[in-house]
Amino acid sequence: MAAGLSLTRAEQLRSGAAAWRAGAVGVAGLVASVALIGAYSHYLARVVVAPVRRLAGATRRLADGDLRARVPERGAGEIGVLERGFNSMTATLDRQRAELAASRSRIVTSADQARRRIERDLHDGIQQRLVSLVLDVRATQATLPRSPGLTEPLDRLADALGEAVDELREISRGIHPAILSEAGLGPALKALARRSPVPVELDVDVPGRLPEAVEVAAYYVVSEALTNTAKHAEATVVTVRAHVADGRVRLRIADDGAGGATTGAGSGLLGLADRVEALGGTFTVDSPPGQGTTLHAGLPVTEAGRDPGIPASR
Ligand SMILES: Nc1ncnc2c1ncn2[C@@H]1O[C@H](COP(=O)(O)OP(=O)(O)O)[C@@H](O)[C@H]1O
Ligand SMILES: [Mg+2]
Repeated sequence: MAAGLSLTRAEQLRSGAAAWRAGAVGVAGLVASVALIGAYSHYLARVVVAPVRRLAGATRRLADGDLRARVPERGAGEIGVLERGFNSMTATLDRQRAELAASRSRIVTSADQARRRIERDLHDGIQQRLVSLVLDVRATQATLPRSPGLTEPLDRLADALGEAVDELREISRGIHPAILSEAGLGPALKALARRSPVPVELDVDVPGRLPEAVEVAAYYVVSEALTNTAKHAEATVVTVRAHVADGRVRLRIADDGAGGATTGAGSGLLGLADRVEALGGTFTVDSPPGQGTTLHAGLPVTEAGRDPGIPASR
């Protein structure tokens, strides 16, 4: 009876040990599985999720117009193909945009140079000849005896020639304002303000001279804005502000007129946007109906101020 009892005890001990071992193996298996899952998740996060997130972020920047968005090319397999594809696509877009901006800038500059040449030719050629003809007629008049049959036609001739000179001067100014090349943006804006039929409050702080293409663009922005104010706005006053800061010339032209201006309705504002964008600048029109019109233009005057990453808005 005692031997039977002790045998049962030994069996109990053996089966207890076996159960413990089985439990330990189970727990170890569980820990190993959890560790494996953890390691795999970490691997997935590092190799798939993080690169996809980086690609998504870069795509967002690209969609916002930042063509310099790039991702590190560290991925393997398809992820690596995606990263390299994204980078080469944005690099191509970036290069093409730079080429386009450079060619637009060349077109604007060469058109301006042609206009300037025409203005010079008119000024030095036909305008001078007309002025000397007026002087000749006056001199001839002085030598002739006064007679109604002669004096009156000569007077009319001298007056007509004088008017032709004035008209030619006006046309020359429209082609290229001589004061801009001779004296720079500040004096040219003052001349524009003086000629404006709507009173202008002028605030100009432009030290020295700026690159020619920038001066010409800034001049045309103010000139078109003042013409538009006179033509369309029924305003009582227009304020013109031109400042140079942080490598950019900033223009603000605001009238208190009818508002409702839109780019694209005519050629003026659209032409300004094209011209300013060609120089890497920004141009905006804010013109709610009944609340006046405000134009903003920013033009880089140095390479540092140029930011091709941000397209001009309209
Ligand atoms: N300052 C302004 N106030 C009110 N309306 C304006 C103003 N500027 C422009 N507009 C409106 O926007 C249109 C587009 O202007 P623009 O491109 O200069 O063309 P254009 O002057 O040749 O008609 C104008 O036809 C006019 O209706
Ligand atoms: Mg116009």
